[in-house]
Amino acid sequence: FASGRLTGRHVLITAGPTQENIDPVRYITNHSSGKMGFALAEAAAEAGARVTLVSGPVHLPTPDRVERIDVVSARDMLVACEAAMPCDLLIAAAAVADYRPQVVAPQKLKKDPDRDDGLLLQLVRNPDILATLAQRPDRPFSVGFAAETENLLEYALRKLKAKNLDLIVANDVANPSIGFNSEENAVSVIDRAQRETRFAQTSKGKIARQLIAFIADRLDQA
Ligand code: C5P
Repeated sequence: FASGRLTGRHVLITAGPTQENIDPVRYITNHSSGKMGFALAEAAAEAGARVTLVSGPVHLPTPDRVERIDVVSARDMLVACEAAMPCDLLIAAAAVADYRPQVVAPQKLKKDPDRDDGLLLQLVRNPDILATLAQRPDRPFSVGFAAETENLLEYALRKLKAKNLDLIVANDVANPSIGFNSEENAVSVIDRAQRETRFAQTSKGKIARQLIAFIADRLDQA
């Protein structure tokens, strides 16, 4: 139903987790599988868009007619997205690590054999990829995701404003049957006028096609 709706548009999608190295053998990451972002990339390509998919480390095949760029860290993801600009539509589905270790140890960190008083890891903030791209003069129509475990709509609306987005997709990740690493999803989309549109629980593929049709409508109106 979204067939041809994005013809002539360049769509940039971020997906998956990021990995932030601690030392040569360890890293910090999260439970994102990348499934929602990859399903969105597939649906956008089906709708006729030229799709650039910037993905953190995931175990998923690249959808047909999608240009995929693999990255590891949040900073790599920002560099790859900036290189892919300009675009008409940005959908940020990646679960970007908010923090990274301040220093990456050049050698594997060793346990102290004489003491057992824990290990303190100093973390620093990562750049916000979505907010950075949504602030540029050539700003695309910008869609974010809010994965929350509580106060879903309130936090989602706060993010929409803070990151200067057009739409935010709110996702309750406290519910194990939807969200991180599950096959299905159920979401609410909120716009700048605080209107909420609900998409009932179904496969991530179906949700992705519904979301792309909805977003394509709003993009045409923008
Ligand atoms: O603030 P929070 O991480 O919950 O915001 C989620 C939204 O922001 C998602 O769309 C995510 O892809 C994006 N994001 C980002 N770069 C970050 C953090 C989040 O693009 N460093």
